[in-house]
Amino acid sequence: MYFLNMTGLVDVCKPVPVFQKLHWVSRRGKNRWHFHYGLSWCYSLLNGVSSHVISTGVQIILARSCGSRCDSTVKINGESYRTVWVEPGDGEMCLKIIDQRRLPFSLEIEDLVSVEDVVRAIADMHVRGAGCIGVTAAYGVWVAARESEGDRTNLDLLCGRLLATRPTASNLLWAVNRQLQAIEGKPVEQWSQITLREAGCIADEDAEWCQSIGRHGLGLLEGIAAGKPANEPVNVLTHCNAGWLAFTDWGSATAPIYAAHRSGLPVHVWVDETRPRNQGARLTAWELANEGVPHTVIVDNAGGHLMQQGMVDVVITGTDRTTYTGDVANKIGTYLKALAAKENNVPFYVALPSSTFDWETRDGVGEIPIEQRGGEEVSRVEGRLSSGELAEVDVLNPGSATANYAFDVTPARLVTGLITERGICAATEEGIAGLFPRKQQ
Ligand code: MRU
Repeated sequence: MYFLNMTGLVDVCKPVPVFQKLHWVSRRGKNRWHFHYGLSWCYSLLNGVSSHVISTGVQIILARSCGSRCDSTVKINGESYRTVWVEPGDGEMCLKIIDQRRLPFSLEIEDLVSVEDVVRAIADMHVRGAGCIGVTAAYGVWVAARESEGDRTNLDLLCGRLLATRPTASNLLWAVNRQLQAIEGKPVEQWSQITLREAGCIADEDAEWCQSIGRHGLGLLEGIAAGKPANEPVNVLTHCNAGWLAFTDWGSATAPIYAAHRSGLPVHVWVDETRPRNQGARLTAWELANEGVPHTVIVDNAGGHLMQQGMVDVVITGTDRTTYTGDVANKIGTYLKALAAKENNVPFYVALPSSTFDWETRDGVGEIPIEQRGGEEVSRVEGRLSSGELAEVDVLNPGSATANYAFDVTPARLVTGLITERGICAATEEGIAGLFPRKQQ
C-alpha cells in the first residue's frame, strides 16, 4: 500500500526493487504507462517468457484499453483519478481503490488482492455510492474468476459473497450479473481476461453516463438561472455524496453542477452533512472544494428552513436504486427533503445512470430492502483532532439504544423528474419507459 498526502507521494512500503519503483513512477501519466508497459515486457523477456507473463501482458493491455485511471475528468492536485482502477502490481494486475474512509483528511490508495478484500472494501465502505459499488463489484468478479481456479461452483460462491455486501444499491447486482453473463459458455481459461475487459467497460460506461447526466442537467440549471436576476447563483441542495467518488467520474447529482460551473453558470450548493457517516460534510464538500464550486455545509435538519426562505432553487440527489415506476431509494433523510421540497414548491430531481434502475420492482416502499447498519455509526462520530490525528468520539448517552437505517424510499409522486444519461423524464412508469423502452418488462 502507498499513501498520498495532499502535497505528493509518500512511499510507506518496505524497500523494493528498482523495477517495482518504476511501477509507482509510471502512475503519473498516460505516456508513462506506455513507458511502463515497455519496461514490463523487456523485464518479462529477460526472465524468460512464461505463459503467466503473457497472460499478465494481455491483461495490462486490456486494462489500458478501458477502465484506466488516467481517463478521468476529475483531478486531485492536478492528477487524474478514478475511484477504482487496475494497474500492474507484483507480476499481476492489481485492483486499486481510493479509500473513502480517510477523506477529506488524507488521500490513501488501497490494493484489493483477494475477494475477501473486495468484500470488506464494499461492506465497510472503503468504497461507497451506487456506481462505485457496481464498478468495484465488477472488478471483484474478475478477482473471483482468478481465485475460483476455473471452478464454476466456487465462482458462484465468491460472487454470492460480493452480492451480500450491500443490499440496497442495485448497481451491485447489475454489475455482477453482467460479468457472469459475459463469461457464460466461455472456456475457463478466458474468464479472467473477459471479466477484466468487461469491468473496464463498466467503469468507462459509468463515467460516460454520468457525463451525459451532466449535459442534460446543465440545461435544467440554465433554465432555472434564466428565471433569476442575472449573475445570481442557482442554489442547489444535495444530500449525501452522489459525486464522482460515488461513481468512477463526474458523479450523478454533481454532474450538472460541475457542468454548470465549468460553463461559467454561477452555482452554489447547500451540502447536507448526512449523518451518520457525514458523506456530505466530508466527501461532497471535499469534491466541490477541489472543483472550486461555491458551497455551504448545513446540518441535515436545515433544508426545510432554507426552502421556506426561498434559498433553494432546486434539490438534486442521487439514488441507490430506483424502481421502473419512479420510486427512489437513497440515503436516509432524502424522503424528508422531498417532503419539504413539495411543501415549498421547490423542484426535486434525482440523477441516475440507467444501471441504477431496478427493472423488477414496482413498489419501492414495500419491496426495496433497506440496509440496517451497526449502531456504532450513530453513537460515535469520527473527526480530526487539532493534533491532526483522526479519532472517534462517543456522542450518545451511554447505554441508549440505537437504530441505523441507511436508506429511505421517496415515492415517485414527490419526484419532479429523473435526470438520466438519455435525458430528463417524469418519475413514472411511462416517463421511464419513454427513455428506456427495451428495458421494460
Ligand atoms: O451508504 P452510501 O454512502 O453507499 O450511500 C450511497 C450514497 O452515496 C447516496 O445514497 C447517494 O446519494 C446515492 S449513490 C450515487
